[in-house]
Amino acid sequence: MIFSQEDIDKLFALEQLCFGGDWTRETFLRELESPLCCLEVTACEGEICAFALGKLAADEAELYQICVHPDFRRRGIAAELLGRFLDSMKARGAAVCFLEVRSRNAPAIALYKSSGFEQISVRRGYYSDDDAVIMRRNITV
Ligand SMILES: CC(C)(COP(=O)(O)OP(=O)(O)OC[C@H]1O[C@@H](n2cnc3c(N)ncnc32)[C@H](O)[C@@H]1OP(=O)(O)O)[C@@H](O)C(=O)NCCC(=O)NCCS
Repeated sequence: MIFSQEDIDKLFALEQLCFGGDWTRETFLRELESPLCCLEVTACEGEICAFALGKLAADEAELYQICVHPDFRRRGIAAELLGRFLDSMKARGAAVCFLEVRSRNAPAIALYKSSGFEQISVRRGYYSDDDAVIMRRNITV
């Protein structure tokens, strides 16, 4: 899928809205331009309302960010998007997907567990204000 500058602006605006400035525009663009990048997008009422962004290195996928516009949450959009992200990674040769998430991000952890991810470790103090939970899902089956 080819994204226009306008699409990229909308994606970055959604990123800022959902994550409150965790990433700079430069970081976001660098990930999008990487040949290892995987980006899946959902449109709601004709506008981008959700995306999942990650990368694939050898047979290991990593999910960096998944977010849904606040107006469209709890409708199954993230679950569908995550499934699409994993299918795409599998088609590109991934056998496993890793992610890290703030330990206090209960909605995201619930989403990941319901999508088959298991916690494999905790990085204490990884964020200035929280621990990081590392999760893994086999995607060979
Ligand atoms: C986490 C997030 C992506 C979920 O998006 P969503 O489209 O609302 O999620 P879905 O409707 O697909 O929910 C799928 C499952 O996840 C879990 N879940 C999602 N939101 C939840 C919430 N607020 N509280 C508890 N469980 C939740 C539930 O198990 C849910 O299944 P159910 O609705 O049948 O109970 C969304 O809240 C978001 O964008 N948050 C801000 C960004 C973020 O923190 N991203 C994750 C870290 S990268």
